[in-house]
Amino acid sequence: MNAGKATAVGPSNIAFVKYWGVVDWDSVLPASQSLSMTLSDCVTRTTVELLEDGRPDEFWWSTASAGLAPASPEIADGISKQVQRVRELAGVTQPVRVATANTFPTGVGIASSASGYAALTVAATHAFGYLCDPDGLSRLARRSGSGSAARSTLGGYVLWPGTASDPGSAARQIAPASHWKLRNVIAVVGSEPKLVSSREGHRLAWTSPYFQRRLQLIPERIEGVRQAIAMRDFAALTLAVEQEAIDLHLIAMSAEPSVLYWRPATLSVIEAVRKLRRDGVEACATIDAGPNVHVLCEPAGESQVIQALEKVPGVQELISDGVGNGPYLTSDHLC
Ligand code: PMV
Repeated sequence: MNAGKATAVGPSNIAFVKYWGVVDWDSVLPASQSLSMTLSDCVTRTTVELLEDGRPDEFWWSTASAGLAPASPEIADGISKQVQRVRELAGVTQPVRVATANTFPTGVGIASSASGYAALTVAATHAFGYLCDPDGLSRLARRSGSGSAARSTLGGYVLWPGTASDPGSAARQIAPASHWKLRNVIAVVGSEPKLVSSREGHRLAWTSPYFQRRLQLIPERIEGVRQAIAMRDFAALTLAVEQEAIDLHLIAMSAEPSVLYWRPATLSVIEAVRKLRRDGVEACATIDAGPNVHVLCEPAGESQVIQALEKVPGVQELISDGVGNGPYLTSDHLC
């Protein structure tokens, strides 16, 4: 691909062990390690194109209903800051046109900032001719402010060991997608943008009386999930993943002020997943910072999961996804 214009597809990810709480916003260092599965179909596609000198930067947002339209000031601001970071590293001064499209609802707990900043970072580095190694890309994506974007620059199962004692921390793949073809059925129970951003959630986490205890438990959870992935042990995965999901929301709910991401249907989906397990279907539930429930399962159980979740009152849409291979470049430009 020629420098000057590049389009990248960046995947979302679902955290099995959650990143929640930041120790340093300048370098976006998390309070704890996290571990996720990169998704395949919930992706952001972003085109970055260099323009002639003297023109202003342009930021476009594409939706199925309206096509390309100017991005909102909030989205444009985040994109602009990340573009500027890459531009400075690349020693480029030219203005850019950036266009972005998501395949899934934005800001509802399907990690649109992770996929968005992974796609933007890959596209911008290629458009500016500033190519970095996987560690460099992960660190650069994280600097966007969306720490989880550090994990979306890689495919498969990804550990972000970031801690205050390791400021250069980059995410790394612990197993490729081919190792375990897990599926993720996302039960969308609310598609409105969330009232409390993850950024605010990271800040408030420290006010929960249970947060320090959570930090003590994380290393054991990481180890549990790593081993479950290594052995493809769904029962062990279920235990750790569901403890983690409840724990994240326990911290959010017990923060001051309290943050409640769940809707009544969130709980109904969790109950449906527990019933599926009682009926012998291997499935477990996790929830990022939003009301929607990510139901993990083996490919053989996916149709039973879908059939059960379709019947849950309050489920608006089911998105069927699975583990993916990470970002890639495409010539299918958005502008
Ligand atoms: O990367 P951020 O700042 O959008 O935070 C992500 C937080 C969670 O999605 C709740 C957890 C995670 O590890 O992805």
